[in-house]
Amino acid sequence: CGDKIALTPTMGWNSWNCFGHEVSADKVKRAADALVKSGLINHGWNYINIDDSWQFNRDGKDPSFQGEMRDENGYILTNSKFPDMKGLTDYFHSLGLKAGIYSSPGPWTCGGCAGSYGYEKQDAESYAKWGFDYLKYDWCSYGGVLNGLPENDPGKVASLNFQGGRDLDKGVKPFKLMGDLLKKQPRDIVYNLCQYGMGDVWKWGNDAGAQSWRTTNDITDSWSSVRGIALAQDKAAPWTKPGNWNDPDMLVVGVVGWGNAHPSRLKPDEQYLHISLWSIFSAPLLIGCDLEKLDAFTLNLLTNDEVIAVNQDALGQQGTCLQTIGDLRIYVKQLEDGSKAVAFANFGRDKVNISYKDFDKLGIKGKQTVRDLWRQKDITRLDVGKDAISLEVPVHGVLYNKFRAAGK
Ligand code: DGJ
Repeated sequence: CGDKIALTPTMGWNSWNCFGHEVSADKVKRAADALVKSGLINHGWNYINIDDSWQFNRDGKDPSFQGEMRDENGYILTNSKFPDMKGLTDYFHSLGLKAGIYSSPGPWTCGGCAGSYGYEKQDAESYAKWGFDYLKYDWCSYGGVLNGLPENDPGKVASLNFQGGRDLDKGVKPFKLMGDLLKKQPRDIVYNLCQYGMGDVWKWGNDAGAQSWRTTNDITDSWSSVRGIALAQDKAAPWTKPGNWNDPDMLVVGVVGWGNAHPSRLKPDEQYLHISLWSIFSAPLLIGCDLEKLDAFTLNLLTNDEVIAVNQDALGQQGTCLQTIGDLRIYVKQLEDGSKAVAFANFGRDKVNISYKDFDKLGIKGKQTVRDLWRQKDITRLDVGKDAISLEVPVHGVLYNKFRAAGK
């Protein structure tokens, strides 16, 4: 069913931004419990995705990883951090959730754990047998393979050489190999490519069998990171369609920071902007914070059904920036019912306060009703060509609206 899965962007949680290498079965179970208890599950959030460091770690720093990495047939072994993968996915499924796992086409993941190189078939089979519904496949040490580095030389491969990724043929091969194997499994597994946009992955991700692919480098919990990634998304937009999503990386909302050792959070207006843009981009929505520490403000943002509905719109288009006025960028997304979502995003250091009437530049015509998606309220009606609206957009903030023909 490769062409019939992930017809809307994936929604859920990922362990990387809050737990990093300290991820464990216990922590991801608690995340699943929190997803249910907070009510997020009732708003479409349903994947619990385990990122790097669930596997054997070559450094052997963690006592649980002292044993063997694979059995005599090459099947990856569980370990004391993740002793029972099937039990874990059964638990997620019993809550009404789905389960995601992580690996690399290289011999080692970015965190120095066992990758799938040479064992792709066994790993695809294990993921299906264990009951996983999603795989994130992260380039990491594959550059080392392409550059002829000894595949088992941890020291060398650790220096992450990405150059091979720019060679399109060589870059596509390992991703397609896993994509083909996943399709042979007896369960649907959503396939996410993680190689940071190299080789214009949005042009070939679908051929590799994937449903989503990272377009840019890793997001971190800072305004400059969110800003840089947001501004780099438009180029990939034409390739978005149901089942094919550009992935600008996690939502760094709420309290983030690895293992909560360095807790940090974006400012409230920055969180509004971040979620609005990931909504209008039709991006996979993967919450990066510790769900047990979710505050009321962020929970409120993440449970706004009108904002989520734009992200999940069945037409499956990616909103793009159609007009720039100073530091204000105006993003527009066509929706299935004929209306348009419009995000007025202020990337500057000063508040925007202008009168605006260039609606023709946004493809908006005639008599319109304007709805504020965050407040879930119609705010004004206007006759395009005659009327102006006043835009007051806070620093690093956003106005997120829907324009629909009046009377609809
Ligand atoms: C790089 C990816 O881009 C991140 O999202 C995360 O998966 C890390 N690797 C894990 O090592």
